[in-house]
Parts: sequence; C-alpha cells; structure tokens
Amino acid sequence: MNTSDISKAQGHWVLAKMGKKVLRPGGRELTNKLVEGLSISSTDDVVEFAPGLGYTASLAISKRPKTYTGVDADLEAAKRLRGIINHNGYQIIHGNAAETPIDTGCKSKVYGEAMLTMHADHRKSEIIKEAHRILKKGGLYAIHELGLTPNTISDELKATIQKDLAVAIKVNARPLTQQEWSELLEKEGFRIKSIDTNAMHLLEPSRIIQDEGFFGALKIGFNILTHSDARKRIVEMSKIFRKHAKHMNSIAIVAEKI
Ligand SMILES: C[S@@+](CC[C@H](N)C(=O)[O-])C[C@H]1O[C@@H](n2cnc3c(N)ncnc32)[C@H](O)[C@@H]1O
Repeated sequence: MNTSDISKAQGHWVLAKMGKKVLRPGGRELTNKLVEGLSISSTDDVVEFAPGLGYTASLAISKRPKTYTGVDADLEAAKRLRGIINHNGYQIIHGNAAETPIDTGCKSKVYGEAMLTMHADHRKSEIIKEAHRILKKGGLYAIHELGLTPNTISDELKATIQKDLAVAIKVNARPLTQQEWSELLEKEGFRIKSIDTNAMHLLEPSRIIQDEGFFGALKIGFNILTHSDARKRIVEMSKIFRKHAKHMNSIAIVAEKI
C-alpha cells in the first residue's frame, strides 16, 4: 500500500488513498456474480487470494463459511485486515498466493480478484496451480480480472494496451482475452463452469456511485479535487481506460477442479 510518492504509486493504492474501496475492474456487479457462482455456505473452507481492502472478504464471511483464509502480498493490507478478520477460523496470511502454507486438497472454494492481471503469464499460472493444489477435487476457483476483447485482438493492439496501462497504473498489467483466461485455467486442470463480463468502467462516475454509494462517491470526488498529485494520476488512468474502452472489459470466471 505504498503511497509515499503518489506519482509512482500503483494505481489501485492511489484510488484506495482517495477512499475507493472497490478496486476490481467489473465493480460490485461482477463481484456479486462471482460470489453467487461460488455458492458459499457454512460447510465451506474458503480462501481468498489478494483480499486487498477486504470488500469481497466481508461478502464471503457474511455467508458464514466454516473457515476463511485471506492471502495478501501487501504487508500493510494484511495487517489492516487482520485487525478486522481474526476470529473463529477466519484468518489473514501475509504472503504470496503462488506459494501458500495451506495444506494440499483441503479447501472447497478459492477466489481472487484483480490480482492475476498484475502478473506475467507464467506467474499467473503459478497462482492458478496453487489454487488447484489447495482445492479438493470438485472445489471451485473463481477469478475476476481485466479482459481484452475480442478474442481475435491483434498482438500489436494488445502490446499498446499493456504499455499504456503500465505507464498509467504503474503496474505491468497483462490482461487477457476471454479465450486466453479460459485456456489458462483449463491448462492447470480446471473445467469452466460460468463466464460473466462487464464493461471496464472502474473510473466512470456512474460506476463509482454504483460501487461506493452516493456519499462514498462524493467523498472520493472531494478527495480527488483537493489532492492535485492524485488527481493528475487518476485523470491519466481515466484517459487510458477510455482510450481502450472498446477493447478492454472485465471478466469473472468460475471453474471447477477436475
Ligand atoms: C488491485 S488490488 C485488488 C484487491 C482486491 N482483490 C479487490 O479486488 O479490491 C491487488 C491486490 O493484490 C495483491 N496481490 C498481488 N499479487 C499478489 C500475490 N501474488 N499474492 C497475494 N496477493 C497479491 C496486492 O497486494 C493487492 O492487495
């Protein structure tokens, strides 16, 4: 959550600093579909990769699973969440989702949002492999990530989008097409159960109100207006998201370990 130099901070932490809580590309709407698709119940052992600020963690925990384990690589985020989630089999681990201390084949549901996109394809595969390792057979793995569209998008345009995103959000984001996300999961031993998509409207005013509520959006707007360094970054991000709006979307996939 390093925001000591706003001009260099990762885009999601700049938004978090301005008060934004929903940091995933498809917003609450796609998150709700992901949570529905997982059908979390009191018999489930749930793992969340990269809970970040804990928005989806609270949704998952509201279903009263038997256990909940969040794994986040950011020490500050993990510490903050530990202050909120630390009781009755609900725990937060500070660590890398690609190599967790979780036992093999003991979990029934695993999910992660806006985190695979941040990694190169071989790192994405390592994280997907880890989800596969810790899940029981028949267990579900759900992802909510940044997508590229259509499936036939040219390599040239893909490279331009990746370069623009790296400059704007200061993360080497590597979004994939629906076909590529599906193949990545299938390659590691998952069967696709459902796919939902949404527009990539993370910074559009209507989505901010939908995700954060009217007063939340008002507070974020005020914070942006009164912090010129963050405003500059957010305007840059917004420009890039709009420039590539036709070719970027958000995608949620629920897959089953076979
Ligand atoms: C864009 S934020 C998304 C947070 C949250 N999932 C959400 O959608 O609001 C990215 C988060 O992923 C975490 N992260 C990235 N790579 C990770 C990894 N390999 N293992 C665990 N956490 C990771 C970061 O620390 C950060 O909290």
